[in-house]
Amino acid sequence: MKSLEELNELKEKVQKDLNTRKSEGKPKVIVGMGTCGIAAGARKIMQALLDEINKRDLDVIVSQTGCIGMCEKEPLVDVKLPGKDRITYGRVTEEDAQRIIVEHVVNGNIVEDLVEAKLEE
Ligand code: FES
Repeated sequence: MKSLEELNELKEKVQKDLNTRKSEGKPKVIVGMGTCGIAAGARKIMQALLDEINKRDLDVIVSQTGCIGMCEKEPLVDVKLPGKDRITYGRVTEEDAQRIIVEHVVNGNIVEDLVEAKLEE
């Protein structure tokens, strides 16, 4: 017989595995929400991304991350399409956020003029 604690641990583990599996194969959009990101307007950018995603009814995982170490480039938005490099966009405005969703997430074309970094798969 397992203790309640062990059962809870097991439940958490299963839930985590499920979440990981559900997010596999889906486009991911990650917003830098460290102190400097927020100071640079990351909340507005997050909202603009979510509005565009909802408007188009897209199946995209949106998450946030902390400090990425590029303060002066905030707000930062990363896009990771399945099987593709992770692209970091910098100094993103609300209009840029829309472009990133339409051009990159929907059409698969990197928005070259906004790219700060590429992380290979
Ligand atoms: S606090 Fe700005 S990049 Fe870390």
